[in-house]
Amino acid sequence: MKSIQQILVFYASSKGKNTIEKCLQRTHYLEIKGIENKLDRFESQALKERPDILIFEDQNNESSVMSALERLAQEGMVCMLMSESNDSEHILEAFRKGAREYLVIDDNLDQSFQNALIRLTEKRNDKDQLKKAHRIAIIGAKGGVGVSHLSVNLAWTISNKLHQKTLLVDLDASGAKDAFMLDLIPERTFLEFASGDPQKHSSLAHQVLTHITPNFALLPLPENPADIENITSEHVQKALDNLESRHDIILLDLSHHLNELSLFGMDCAQTLILVIEPTVISLKAGLQKIQLMEKMGYDRTQIHIVINRYNRKQALGPQQVSNSLDLPVFGWLPCDEKHVTQAENSGKPVCFSYPGCKYAKKIFQVADMLLTGSEED
Ligand SMILES: Nc1ncnc2c1ncn2[C@@H]1O[C@H](COP(=O)(O)OP(=O)(O)O)[C@@H](O)[C@H]1O
Ligand SMILES: [Mg+2]
Repeated sequence: MKSIQQILVFYASSKGKNTIEKCLQRTHYLEIKGIENKLDRFESQALKERPDILIFEDQNNESSVMSALERLAQEGMVCMLMSESNDSEHILEAFRKGAREYLVIDDNLDQSFQNALIRLTEKRNDKDQLKKAHRIAIIGAKGGVGVSHLSVNLAWTISNKLHQKTLLVDLDASGAKDAFMLDLIPERTFLEFASGDPQKHSSLAHQVLTHITPNFALLPLPENPADIENITSEHVQKALDNLESRHDIILLDLSHHLNELSLFGMDCAQTLILVIEPTVISLKAGLQKIQLMEKMGYDRTQIHIVINRYNRKQALGPQQVSNSLDLPVFGWLPCDEKHVTQAENSGKPVCFSYPGCKYAKKIFQVADMLLTGSEED
C-alpha cells in the first residue's frame, strides 16, 4: 500500500485554489498540510515541515513563484507547478528551476494531476530500489564518423517521438560538443560535480541539466578545454548515480579516443553502439574496438553496429561490413549532407527540422529497435 503523502499548496488565484482543491478531493493517500496564498509563509512552512510534495500555482508567469520553487527545489523538495500557460519556454524554465512536474490547468487537469502524483509517489516509494535507466554508449570506430549526430538525433527521437525520459551525456571532449549542435550555451556543466559538495549532489543533479524539452535533457561538458581536463570518471559516476532514477534512457556520446571518460562510458553501459563508415579504414578501426569491448567483458550481443553514410559512393556493402566484423549490422543511416549540414547550421536536430527525410526515418528505426530489442530484417 502507498504511504500517505503530505502536500503543501501555494495558490495564486481563487480559481486556481478551487481547481487544486477539486483535484485533491479526488485523491486518496494525501494529507494536506496547508493551502497558502502568501509566498513567504508558504516557503517558511515548507522549510519547517518538509512535506513530501509542494504544489505551486503560477498565475502570470510570476518570477517570485519561480524563485521560491528554485530555492525549495535546491533544498531537495519535490515541486510541482500548475499554470494556465502552455508556453514551452515557461515549461522549460520550470524544469530548469527544478520542478519535477508541470501541469497545464485545462479540462484534463484532473487526470494529469492523478498521473503526476502516481509518478512522484512511485519515485518516493522506490527510494530503496531506485529505477535503473538503460545506458547506451555510442562510440565511433574512428573520429568524425557521425557519433555526435547520431547521439543528438537518437536522444531527440527517443524523448520526443517514443516518449522516454532521456538524458544525453556528452563525454566527447575532442569533437563537436552536443551543446553546440543544439545551439546552447549551458549555464552549468559537469564541472559542478568536480567542485560541488557531495551532500548537495542530489539536488544539484537536476539543476545541472540543460532541459531541451520536458523529456530531453543534456548533461554538457564545459566549454573551456582546461576545465574539461578536470572532469574525471568519478564525476561522471556521481552525476549518473544522481540522475539515473529520473530517466528511462541515458545516452553517452563518447570520444573515439580511448581515454578515461570513454572507457568509463563503455564500461558502465548495457548496450554499445559502434558507428562505422563503410570504408576499409573504418572497418579496421572498428575491429580493434570490438576486440577491446570483448576484452572488457562485453558479450557480442551487446555490441550494435550502425553504419553511417551507407550510400556513399564507393562504399562497402552491408554484407561485406557484416562479414568483416563477424557481427550483424543493427542499422544504417544514409549520407545526407544537405539535411545534416542545414541542421548543423540551425542548431536543431535533423529529426526535429526534417522528420520526413530518410536520415530521420532511419534514426527512428534504430531508436525503435533499441527500445523494443528487435533487429532490422
Ligand atoms: N549521415 C551523414 N551524412 C552526411 N554528413 C554527415 C553524416 N553524419 C555525419 N556527417 C558529418 O560528419 C561530420 C562529423 O560528424 P560528428 O557527428 O561530429 O562525428 P563524430 O562525433 O563521430 O566525431 C560532421 O561534419 C557532419 O556534418
Ligand atoms: Mg562527436
